[in-house]
Amino acid sequence: MPILALETSCDETAVVAYDLNRGILAEGLESQAFQAQFGGVVPELASRDHLSKLLPMIQQVIDQANLSKNDIEAIAYTAGPGLVGALLVGASLACSLAYAWQLPVIPVNHLEGHLLAAQLDYPALAFPFLSLLASGGHTLLAQVNQLGQYTLLGETLDDAAGEAFDKTAKILGLPYPGGPELAALATKGKPGVYQFPRPMMNRPGLDFSFSGLKTAVVQAIEGRSLNDQDKADVACAFQEAVVDTLMLKCQRTIKQTQAKCLVLAGGVVANQALRAAMDQLAMQENVELYYPSLRYCTDNAAMIAHAGALRFARGEGEKPKIYVDPRWSLFDV
Ligand code: KG4
Ligand code: ZN
Repeated sequence: MPILALETSCDETAVVAYDLNRGILAEGLESQAFQAQFGGVVPELASRDHLSKLLPMIQQVIDQANLSKNDIEAIAYTAGPGLVGALLVGASLACSLAYAWQLPVIPVNHLEGHLLAAQLDYPALAFPFLSLLASGGHTLLAQVNQLGQYTLLGETLDDAAGEAFDKTAKILGLPYPGGPELAALATKGKPGVYQFPRPMMNRPGLDFSFSGLKTAVVQAIEGRSLNDQDKADVACAFQEAVVDTLMLKCQRTIKQTQAKCLVLAGGVVANQALRAAMDQLAMQENVELYYPSLRYCTDNAAMIAHAGALRFARGEGEKPKIYVDPRWSLFDV
């Protein structure tokens, strides 16, 4: 039987009807494009927009999947990490519906959703595997042993990779969200015009640091007026540095852990240059490589449904009680 899942951790409102065996039955997703005028996400506006979009989207998904409330087995929702107000909208709605329909709820960790998202495209992808999660809020390497059993191998000490993309895009005058814009501009850039560092590569360990890279960009262009080609050249060199750093850290991890399978996750994995570099790495190191299709790299409800459904299948699910944790760690699930 299907479950319903809601995702409202940041600026995407997403709903899905999902069955572990049959896959996605219907889904809705709306990004808060209006946030671009503020150059970032205004939390209060995010909450209000979720509130207005969520209920009609749930109705639409249920209708599209041709379900009645009696067909639904449980409701999963993102309980964290994320913006507290945005999370509370999803949690309140999930719990209210579950209360009215007498269903259990499954609070899902957003990062666990990302981590397992590739299983939406590759249902046979089995544990254990090594995972690189690179999103707007997090960048980490983890050993994924089993559902809920994750070991942290390395993480960013400052900015996340996506955050570095967004901040550098802003420096170059590109609109928010900057990651995809910067990636598009980078394709027009000439490699080698600018050189940026590969942070933390000359130190042992598996941690990342991206804030110095952003500073290097600022220093390289300070006091200069850039034409479109200059900006593209900067974007190209910046992207190359991030991609190289992520790739080299994955290579180091593979060598250290003897991993045979690498799974990529998170919004930054939508980046084509990163995918190409990881394809090469996988060939070179002889590891199996999986990444989600583009729409399941960035925030979506299907990944929340999948993690929730796996947990429900092993007996989890609780009476509706509104619970969110804006800083919920992946290693405390
Ligand atoms: O996973 P996600 O949708 O949300 C979080 O949980 O953070 O990731 C969003 C991040 C943003 O920083 C966005 O700029 C970045 O992923 N991103 C990209 C690309 N598409 C999205 N970064 C680089 N290249 C892209 N094509
Ligand atoms: Zn996310």
